[in-house]
Amino acid sequence: MLPAYIPNPVAALVGGGMPVDLGRRCRDGRRVLGDGKTFRGLAAGIGAGILTGLLQLHLQNSIPPGFLYPHTLLSVMLMATGALLGDLVKSFFKRRIGKERGEAWPIADQYDLVAGAFVLNLVLNTGWFLTTMTTGTFIAILLLTPVLHRAVNIIGYLTGVKDVPW
Ligand code: CTP
Ligand code: MG
Repeated sequence: MLPAYIPNPVAALVGGGMPVDLGRRCRDGRRVLGDGKTFRGLAAGIGAGILTGLLQLHLQNSIPPGFLYPHTLLSVMLMATGALLGDLVKSFFKRRIGKERGEAWPIADQYDLVAGAFVLNLVLNTGWFLTTMTTGTFIAILLLTPVLHRAVNIIGYLTGVKDVPW
């Protein structure tokens, strides 16, 4: 899951500048996505996720087989891209229900990246996804994700990278 987990904290670290929605608003008067979704965050986050995956691909070949889940270049790219696309889609709906940038939206805030990463792989990398994602793995990811999410966001808050600890 690292290629999907890395993009969010990297986007938070280096994001900023031009927002993806270019400042535009929807008919409801609210921003399409908000200032928390920027091109720089997207590019750096996805790039960092893919680099992490490339490292995993390299390690996969140099340590005992079966120790790491078998990634491919495609799975890595879809995991990283899907994670931040899920985050974008989440923010779109977050604005539509009237939540401001940075406001907490439990469940959605934690699982947007998993949903995005899984949906992209399910649709565009179906064979890989269905053979790799066993029920046990899926449940482990569902349990681990909110814990990691919370821990990383508290670190982000304490170090001043994030304004809120979620
Ligand atoms: N970020 C970014 N570009 C992205 C995603 C995130 O620049 N595509 C940066 C922004 O600085 C953002 C921070 O990472 O404020 C934290 O991300 P997140 O919690 O997803 O955004 P929020 O500011 O909470 O906005 P939202 O309410 O829309 O989730
Ligand atoms: Mg947030």
